[in-house]
Amino acid sequence: MTIVTGVTVRVPAKLNLQLAVGPPRADGYHDLVTVFHAVSLFDEVTAEPARRDAVTVSGEGADRVPAGRDNLALRAVAALRRAAAGPASAATGVHITIVKRIPVAAGLAGGSADAAAALVACNELWGGGLSQPQLLEVAARVGSDVGFALLGGTAVGRGRGERLTPALAPATQYHWVLAFADGQLSTPEVYAALDRLRARGERGDGQSPRAGGHRGVPPRGLAQPVLDAALMSALRSGEAAMVGRALSNDLQPAALSLFPALRKTLAAGLELGALGALVSGSGPTCVFLAASPDRALDLAVSLSGAGVCRSVARVAGPVPGAAVIPPPK
Ligand code: C5P
Repeated sequence: MTIVTGVTVRVPAKLNLQLAVGPPRADGYHDLVTVFHAVSLFDEVTAEPARRDAVTVSGEGADRVPAGRDNLALRAVAALRRAAAGPASAATGVHITIVKRIPVAAGLAGGSADAAAALVACNELWGGGLSQPQLLEVAARVGSDVGFALLGGTAVGRGRGERLTPALAPATQYHWVLAFADGQLSTPEVYAALDRLRARGERGDGQSPRAGGHRGVPPRGLAQPVLDAALMSALRSGEAAMVGRALSNDLQPAALSLFPALRKTLAAGLELGALGALVSGSGPTCVFLAASPDRALDLAVSLSGAGVCRSVARVAGPVPGAAVIPPPK
């Protein structure tokens, strides 16, 4: 019998290729239709048996990750323990070690990714044997984006984002440049800013709702969000240029209203030849689609030289969701 002493899981960041946001619901959340896309920027999360639950975080932005019970990965551990009440090992504590490369509060769902990785790692460690649908149920209770980090690939999210359907698309790899901002945005604050802009009949980019010229950000304050047929057909075609034209994010005007410097970043990327540009999720990371790995390299170098962001990363997507890294033989 093999005694499992620790399990390490690698988990990707996500982008939203479309993020359509409906009006606020009674529970404070917003109904969404979103197209999630997992990219090759990974955190690593290790779960080991311990006397009591604890978390250690190192790497990119580690000092800004909550270390106590508020840590999303520890909340995922507690939720899994409740769901997996059977196995005796689930009664013991667990030490979670997170090595971060996904920046914190950057619109890339890094905290949700760590929670998803903790679920996969503890399920393995405890021999819990929960199936992926069961893990997805637990994930939905922990946070809106946690389920997608389990699934990976490209998927449509509905509800709060937790109701997922994998997108049927050819195995095209897309090449992205991420521009990390010098600062952070809080997701609830960005949603609240969107509600305020909509209540005032504004989009947040200084233009009236009907002024046009700002692709993909219609005033959806009253309507229920709908999946963008143009984006889905672009994804089915595998044509990066079409995908670039169809990117959209209803949260972008709100993120720009709170972080106006991002306008310059987006404009610089488009001037430098990106096929499309948008704020990632609630921001402030900006995302650019490039036509090829070489174009992505050129764009990354030029963007970092332009002084419009803190740093850049080149990533590819889609990539698989949270997965155990086999221990070295
Ligand atoms: O689910 P999660 O904890 O990741 O959400 C963080 C915050 O983002 C929520 O408290 C809410 O303010 C906002 N949110 C929302 N509608 C969603 C997802 C998130 O309003 N569908």
